[in-house]
Amino acid sequence: MSKKILVTGGTGYIGSHTVVELQDSGFDVVVVDNLSNSNIEVLDNIDKITGIKPYFENFDLADRKKTHNFFERTSDIGAIIHFAASKAVGESVEKPLLYYGNNLVSLINLLECQVQFQIPHMVFSSSCTVYGQPEKLPVTEETPRKDAESPYGNTKRVNEDIMRDTIAAHPQLRGIALRYFNPVGAHASALIGELPLGVPQNLVPFITQTAAGLRDELKVFGDDYNTPDGSAVRDYINVVDLAKAHVVAIERLLGGKNKENFEIFNLGTGRGVSVLEMVKGFEKATGVKVNYKIVGRRQGDIEKIWADTSYANSELGWKAEKGLEETLLSAWEWEKRVRGKM
Ligand code: UD1
Repeated sequence: MSKKILVTGGTGYIGSHTVVELQDSGFDVVVVDNLSNSNIEVLDNIDKITGIKPYFENFDLADRKKTHNFFERTSDIGAIIHFAASKAVGESVEKPLLYYGNNLVSLINLLECQVQFQIPHMVFSSSCTVYGQPEKLPVTEETPRKDAESPYGNTKRVNEDIMRDTIAAHPQLRGIALRYFNPVGAHASALIGELPLGVPQNLVPFITQTAAGLRDELKVFGDDYNTPDGSAVRDYINVVDLAKAHVVAIERLLGGKNKENFEIFNLGTGRGVSVLEMVKGFEKATGVKVNYKIVGRRQGDIEKIWADTSYANSELGWKAEKGLEETLLSAWEWEKRVRGKM
């Protein structure tokens, strides 16, 4: 069984952390990325951490010809981890065709190549966004999916369906969809992390940029939710813990340990944390104050969600291990390094 893994989106936030964990576990990694939301220097930093610079190709997986050509030239791929996707929720509302085009077509191209070039295994990046606001918490993998609030969210739901239907039609294929809750933090080396383009939309990069003085204040979107302190609740998972789950998922597929041809796992901590708890947790972990102001709710936000992780814990033998303060401190160390402050 080939230990060569194609990681699409391998220079991105979750992708780069996964490349590190794969290389540290003895896998041979090939990265494909069009660098639309990442930086080529990430490869050098992966090299600094692991001692290996992964083989890299720059092209867009939504380009069918280039994708097929890549597989014609590249032999011996044992499995694919497919991260490459557009992921800005707000932008997806403005440019739905761009999102459906990029995210659906690149998965279709990869699945076509899996069939044609006999690459049975794929791990796909899905999201807890497929649950919308669930009726019951925590959410299990059986919790019904809902129409997403954004085209981005819909691409995750539809891509799960495309994967399931394709695997049903081609019984030689095996797939795992991993539904991430909210990935945060950075590698302990501070050499890789999340690098948002422009003004960050996500909470933790906004907190770290405010603490670093790049933003005047964090806007806390809503304090009138039905939660203990009124601010919205999410399940924030350390990106390194998340990356490790991908290695486990790949080992499960390559070792033939999967129970069904298409499986789904929730990846979270099982713990709901509010926006205000995140701010306080950051201040406690770093000793740095975050200037914040409560404002109205953000359109499209849900009130609260956190994962039931028991299926991932028992079936994958994987568990999120890092605590919130360690995670927030890692995000801060990364922010400081990016700003040239350490
Ligand atoms: C969104 C997406 C999710 C995606 C994730 C990471 C939806 C419903 N969710 O999650 O699929 O995986 O981004 O890209 O599409 N907040 C503030 N102030 C800020 C920023 C955020 O108060 O400046 C609050 C938000 O209102 C929310 C929480 O912080 O309650 C987390 O927000 P964010 O980091 O953007 O993630 P989600 O919206 O949960």
